[in-house]
Amino acid sequence: MDLYGKDLICTQEWSMDELWAVLDLAAKMKRDRFSPRWRNILQGRTFLMFFYNPSVRTRISFETAATELGGHAQFLEPRAMRLKTEKTAGETVEDAAKVMSRYAAGLGIRILEDKIPRYGAGDELIREYARWADIPVINMADDKFHPCQGLADVMGWMEWLGKGVGKPLDPEAIRGKKLLITWGHGALARSWCSVQEALLIGSRFGMHVTLAYPEGYDLDPEVIEQVKANCEANGTTFEIVHDPVSGYEGAHVVYSRHWMSPQAYRDGVFHKEEEIEKAMRYPEWICDEEKMARTANAIFTHPMPVDRGHEATDAVASGPRSCIYDVAENRLHVQKAIMALTMGNL
Ligand code: CP
Repeated sequence: MDLYGKDLICTQEWSMDELWAVLDLAAKMKRDRFSPRWRNILQGRTFLMFFYNPSVRTRISFETAATELGGHAQFLEPRAMRLKTEKTAGETVEDAAKVMSRYAAGLGIRILEDKIPRYGAGDELIREYARWADIPVINMADDKFHPCQGLADVMGWMEWLGKGVGKPLDPEAIRGKKLLITWGHGALARSWCSVQEALLIGSRFGMHVTLAYPEGYDLDPEVIEQVKANCEANGTTFEIVHDPVSGYEGAHVVYSRHWMSPQAYRDGVFHKEEEIEKAMRYPEWICDEEKMARTANAIFTHPMPVDRGHEATDAVASGPRSCIYDVAENRLHVQKAIMALTMGNL
C-alpha cells in the first residue's frame, strides 16, 4: 500500500484498503506507543499546521504525533502570514503552497465556521492548496469534512464494540450495527464537518445509519446522496427522522452533536448569534439516559468539545458507555499513522 505523498481531504476519497492501512497501523502504534520502530519515521521533517480556527485536540494531537515520530509540527496563524483572501490582497495560494513544499513534509489546514463567507469555501481553499502543493495536504477540519476525526471515531467504535480498547481492530465489530447521528441543541453553531465525515465513514464500514434532526437542519444533499450510495453498496439501511426520540431504538452507537442550519451563511456573512438563538428553541433535542435506555446498550460518541447540558447530559457524556476520551486519544494514533504513511520514512 503506497500512500506516500497522498492528500487526505475526506475519507470518501480514499479506498477501503487505504483507510484500513491507516487504522491497522494506528492500532499497532497505540499498542506499542513508544516503540523504537516509530521513533525515526519523521526524523528531521516538519509538518506545517495552519489554524484559521481554534483547536484543542487537533493541534495537540498533531504536535504530539510529530514528536513521537521524531519530527516537528509548526503552528501557523494565517492572519500573520499576509495570505490573499476573498477580502484582502496578499500572497496567492499557489505561491504559498509551492514555497511551503520546499520546506516541509506535509501541510495541515483547518478552516470552518466564522472564517468562511459561505458553505464550501473552506473545503475549496484546502483543495486549492492541495492543487499547488507538492507535499501531502491534510484536512484538519473544514466546513464539509473532518477525515482525521472520522478515522478516530470508527477506531473507537471498533474497539468498544469489538475486542476492547487498545486491542487489535476488527472492522466486523461495527458492520451491521446501527449508528444514530442526532442533532443536539447547542450554543456553538458548529460546522457540518464532523457529522458528515462520520456519516460517510460509518456507512462505508457497513453500518445502518439513522440521521435525526428537527425540520430545517438538513445537511449537504450531495453528502447525503453519497451516504445513501454507501449504504446501498453495503446492503444496509439509511433513514432520516425528525423527532428526538425514535432514532434511539436499537442503536449501537449514538452520536449527538449540534450543527448549524443551512441558513447560517447569507450574503457572505455567518449569522452565528441567530443560529444559537434558533437552536436553543429545541431543548428536547438532548441525549440523556432516558433516550439511551431505548438503545441496544449503545455507546455514546462525540468528537468533542462536548456542549454538556445541550448536546448530551453529564450522565451520558461521563457515563460508563461513553467512548469520548478513547476517540479523542485515537486522534493521536490515526494521525501518527497518516503522517507515517503519507510523508514518513516507513
Ligand atoms: N474534535 C476536534 O477536532 O477537536 P478540536 O476542535 O479541539 O481540535
